[in-house]
Amino acid sequence: MCGIVGYVGTEEAQDILLRGLKTLEYRGYDSVGVSIKSDDGIKLCKMSGRVAGLESYLEKNRISGLIGIGHTRWATHGGVSQMNSHPHASFSKKIHIVHNGIIENYADLKVFLQGKGFYFESETDSEVIAHLLEYYCCDNFFDGLIESLRHLTGVFAFAAMFGEEIYIAKKGSPIVVGHGLQEYIFSSDLSGLSGRARDVVFLEDGEIAVLRSSSCDFFSFSGEKIDKQFMEVNFDSSESLLEGYPHYMVKEIFQQAEVLERIIQNYIDKNSIAFSFMNPGCFSELKKIYIVACGTAYHAGLVGKSIIEGYSRISVEVVVASEFINNDPILEGNTLCILISQSGETMDTLFALRKAKSLGIYTLAIVNSRFSTISREADEVLYSLAGVEIAVASTKAYISQIGVLYLFAAYLSGYKRDLSEFLDTFRQLPRVLRETFCLDSQIEGLAERFSSKNKVFFIGRGLDYASAVEASLKLKEVSYISSEAYPAGELKHGTIALIDDQTLTIAISSQESLNSKMISNAKEVQARGGDVLFLGKSSSHDDFSTFETLILPEFDSMFAPFVTIVPLQLFAYYTSLKLGLDVDKPRNLAKSVTVE
Ligand code: G6P
Repeated sequence: MCGIVGYVGTEEAQDILLRGLKTLEYRGYDSVGVSIKSDDGIKLCKMSGRVAGLESYLEKNRISGLIGIGHTRWATHGGVSQMNSHPHASFSKKIHIVHNGIIENYADLKVFLQGKGFYFESETDSEVIAHLLEYYCCDNFFDGLIESLRHLTGVFAFAAMFGEEIYIAKKGSPIVVGHGLQEYIFSSDLSGLSGRARDVVFLEDGEIAVLRSSSCDFFSFSGEKIDKQFMEVNFDSSESLLEGYPHYMVKEIFQQAEVLERIIQNYIDKNSIAFSFMNPGCFSELKKIYIVACGTAYHAGLVGKSIIEGYSRISVEVVVASEFINNDPILEGNTLCILISQSGETMDTLFALRKAKSLGIYTLAIVNSRFSTISREADEVLYSLAGVEIAVASTKAYISQIGVLYLFAAYLSGYKRDLSEFLDTFRQLPRVLRETFCLDSQIEGLAERFSSKNKVFFIGRGLDYASAVEASLKLKEVSYISSEAYPAGELKHGTIALIDDQTLTIAISSQESLNSKMISNAKEVQARGGDVLFLGKSSSHDDFSTFETLILPEFDSMFAPFVTIVPLQLFAYYTSLKLGLDVDKPRNLAKSVTVE
């Protein structure tokens, strides 16, 4: 989703902005641009397409200047075009802005400004910010900014460059300001600071930062000066390197064993779970848990439901965040709401968190990105410890989320039972994952064979159904092949009508007790001319030898979701490559979705 970067200091802004924009690419975008203040005014350069295109243009047409703003746009209002790309300039071209979020009352503001003679070049909601600032800022920029903020409704983080200063305002969308030697750099997330600043400050909603090369001041939206302290953060920028892998997605798939090792190291202490909660008493008498999330994180929640209900016998409801916001949840006594998010910035999940809090429900965030808004606002936080995830299609974040959910389920049940056997099995998972990685070349061959299919069904029962849903999302995200997941027993109730020789059905069968039913379901597909790829364990190999098979390593079936998803992530990855697609940056997707 849209990413902002900006710089004011003593070095050439162009190089720093381009570096920042490259690190923001992972968020997902369709166009890119920069504005840099040079000796003869602000120069703007923007285009649809990739940062590499902007970079090669600017190599030949350098803009020299020490102050600048840059932006990666993910289209919402207005199509993908140069004109709709950011930055946007005010009518006089003296103010340039970049914006992340949505200005909800932009249509009214546009009519108002057009009535005052302002001409709009783009179809975006964002352009109104530039003209509004110009309208109100004729005498004093800061006063005009305060007045403009009174008229803007919606969600935003924007930066406005005027003269030698950059003004940043935040309401809803994230922004972080970093402080280096005689310079300030800001971005939508820590990665965009390109490792230039270790001292950072996160703006809160309703706050303004005014940056010059020599100083940075903070104000409230009502114009009062406020005190904010920079704090030191450790951000490992090596995570943003490919380190020999051809793509981030495959690097991150293979990092999953390390992620589980990190979780074991941080959260397991001998035979107990070492979560440190502010208020652990809140978890002892729970009657009901809501798990609320979007996309892959929601699918982690489906696994979490099975495990928490199975282990602790507390009823769990998993709700898509955008629906939770509209629902009227029934509160049954002691209720907990678990919000799961890789980025910690997803707007739907953030609004769901705020709704839960407003209803008086205690909240626990399972979040990967430290310092993110959701992690700061939730009552309790468990970091999922996946490390920086760059590929838009989430893989290691998913494993980390289910890892933390398993431990949380055990933590809740630990009030009643001995956890030693559970934790011993959990400690085996990194080894089992490494055995699963050995299927890599076989999976590459299967992807080659099946990449021409125009429809893929994923079927499974129980825990395998949750993996099927995530596997299906992975495949459609990176290959654009239409895919759907079904509980294996449900396929015959209608959807089986779609099976023909153009379809592939991937049957996931990790649960011994359900194996014969899975084999029957797969045979039903085969009998109708559909291809079947069967994922099972070697112990039952003879039974499914009529199918194309992938034999998973032996493991405890209660922990199946960690193992079954890995080959299917690799299958999605190789299918995307066989189809010649941009696997790390699939079309239309954003990694961090900061609009509702
Ligand atoms: C977007 C991404 C998905 C991700 C979802 C939730 O839709 O494309 O990959 O699962 O947001 O993101 P979060 O950061 O909240 O986990």
